Amino acid sequence: MNQWKGLLEQYSSYLPMTEQTPALSLGEGNTPLIRLDTLSAEWGIQLHIKYEGANPTGSFKDRGMVMAVAKAKEAGATTIICASTGNTAASAAAYGARANLRVVVVMPKGKIAQGKLAQAAMYGAEMIEIEGNFDHALALVRELSESKEIALVNSVNPYRLEGQKTAAFEICQQLGKAPEILAIPVGNAGNISAYWKGFKEFNHASQTGLPQLHGFQAAGAAPIVHNKVIDFPETIASAIRIGNPASWEKAVVALNESNGVIDKVSDEEILAAYKELASKEGVFAEPGSCAAIAGVKKQVQSGKIKQKAQVVAILTGNGLKDPTTALDVSNVKPLAFELSKEALHTYLVQQEAL
Ligand code: F0G
Repeated sequence: MNQWKGLLEQYSSYLPMTEQTPALSLGEGNTPLIRLDTLSAEWGIQLHIKYEGANPTGSFKDRGMVMAVAKAKEAGATTIICASTGNTAASAAAYGARANLRVVVVMPKGKIAQGKLAQAAMYGAEMIEIEGNFDHALALVRELSESKEIALVNSVNPYRLEGQKTAAFEICQQLGKAPEILAIPVGNAGNISAYWKGFKEFNHASQTGLPQLHGFQAAGAAPIVHNKVIDFPETIASAIRIGNPASWEKAVVALNESNGVIDKVSDEEILAAYKELASKEGVFAEPGSCAAIAGVKKQVQSGKIKQKAQVVAILTGNGLKDPTTALDVSNVKPLAFELSKEALHTYLVQQEAL
């Protein structure tokens, strides 16, 4: 079996690589496309997920970050900076460490999932918490990063979208063509824009067709759905708690060109999908990712997604990113037992009889 060498090598001809671009990789990309048999049968559709939680830092950000950090290094930057709801920070911290760069991450205080904080800390990033939300943090770093030494690695950096578009290539290769519908959570709106670019480029090169994009925002953080900036976005899905997406216009163009839709899902719907996905399919994704699954369920029920439709939902981040929410919402709690074979045996027999 050939070893996977990462995105920059795998898709070099589709990416802005030069002789000077350093080889950088943590083995990102090549994530599984998994068919969800139980939910497909229950909902009457053909549902796959693209499991981006299998990336090296547990989210899709690694696809864009490997490209952005390689280009920052090539350009002579010594520091990378980003605003983040957590995953961008974790990814920047990892790739920055690998490329021997100073990494500064600016995050909304008290709103970052524990796993993401643990990652940024371990990779050695300088972590700055602000009294404000993601939109405030992004405005700050955008102003401060306009120099040769400091590279901004948020998705307003075009190299981020270049790297992230490779997920669309992989889906076309895994399915043999583009799916009918691509369901995707939307926060800062970079990823949906990157997917559309990827599908178009791959279709141009290999006639794999184009999907309809179905984007999903959390109801309390749904600026594109309502067509207005949300000053105080709120949702349990902290990854997508964003009120003024930087790639708003690009996302609207992608939605229109693909004949797609942008829709919202409530926190209750997100959490129900989060639990259902893990308990029925063995797939654990963080709440922000599950906005896509909640959205598919809602649109199947409303008829917006037709029976038998082929849908790929993007699970953007690993469930382990946010252990606090998982433990809060799960009904399963450990039972305290004495160290006794009889006690365990009695329990097993009783439970089986129920
Ligand atoms: N899903 C997860 C798990 C995310 O972390 C994000 C964004 C999104 C979806 C939305 O993607 O912003 O391209 O529309 N997280 C950013 C961060 C904002 O800082 O980690 P998007």
